Amino acid sequence: MKILVLGGAGYIGSHICKALSQQSHHSVVVDNLSTGHREAVRWSRFIEADILDRDSLIRILQDEGPFDLIMHFCAKSLVGESMQNPALYYRNNVVGTLNLLDAMVATGHDKLVFSSTAAVFGMPEKELIDEQHSRLPINPYGQSKKMIEDVLGDYHDAYGVKSVALRYFNACGADPDGEIGERHEPETHLIPNILKSAIAGKTAELKVFGDKYPTPDGTCIRDYIHVNDLASAHILAGEYLQTHAGASAFNLGNGNGFSVLQVIEAAGNVIGRDIAYTVEAPRAGDPPILVSDARQAGEILGWQPVYTDIESIIATAWHWHQNETF
Ligand code: UFG
Repeated sequence: MKILVLGGAGYIGSHICKALSQQSHHSVVVDNLSTGHREAVRWSRFIEADILDRDSLIRILQDEGPFDLIMHFCAKSLVGESMQNPALYYRNNVVGTLNLLDAMVATGHDKLVFSSTAAVFGMPEKELIDEQHSRLPINPYGQSKKMIEDVLGDYHDAYGVKSVALRYFNACGADPDGEIGERHEPETHLIPNILKSAIAGKTAELKVFGDKYPTPDGTCIRDYIHVNDLASAHILAGEYLQTHAGASAFNLGNGNGFSVLQVIEAAGNVIGRDIAYTVEAPRAGDPPILVSDARQAGEILGWQPVYTDIESIIATAWHWHQNETF
């Protein structure tokens, strides 16, 4: 397949580009490098452009296309930041994706894999969240992604755009070869923060945001899914779209929840020493528990995560953080 990867210089997009090249697919990356890294684009042609510029998108789709598939990773994706600056989230995630969809329609492109998120669900109503769970986001980030999920249904019915929205639970880990990994500025995610604090040594301050949640140890529970398992799901979703219409959505997670304290303990086992932390106030917009039921992605796309053990996931991230190349 020939694939346009929007946001391919970012954490998840770059891992997908590597997986695409390993399966002999051809990719072109578009990224504005606002959070992505030019050094992470190693398996694709690179074009610097912004999804807020619809004319550029139309030009790229015309000049570089036609593409068999578009994958869209350009988004603001931090829950806390979205509470403080919702305008940024609605502009980038909603307006930007509308630009892309309109550019696709204008140039005759009709297949999209869209990065969605577990944040569309809001407070869990049952232990494991499947695709039928109600979507009542509790932060603007989740709301912006839910809005686009709804738009995708309408664009399918009216303009024939076929799509798969993949709702990631907590993406983590790194390329096991150590060529690329997770690098955000500033870093807000739990696993990189734990590992960076371990590298920085005793003086580093790892913060645990809240220990009075209604969970067994009082800290938030999440479902951690390796970035390469997300990559394989995107490729399967792209293949599915070659023969299936509709605007579908699938949850992607391991189906196992780990509390913040359990992740810190698992990281300590990987590194071989205890990791110090302090307990701080809870972070606005954090639901207490988010764990997936991802069976539908297995049944319909044929997806199976390979990294099912939290310590082996953390080990790939540890390998990256010790030798970061960008
Ligand atoms: N946490 C800490 N200390 C840190 C960082 C995080 O205690 O230094 C806690 C958070 O409060 C949360 C958990 O660790 O309880 C996981 O936090 P992350 O920031 O790693 O991930 P989030 O759950 O906030 O968000 C991620 C993605 C979102 C997605 C969400 C779905 O970044 O895009 O998962 O649950 F929406």
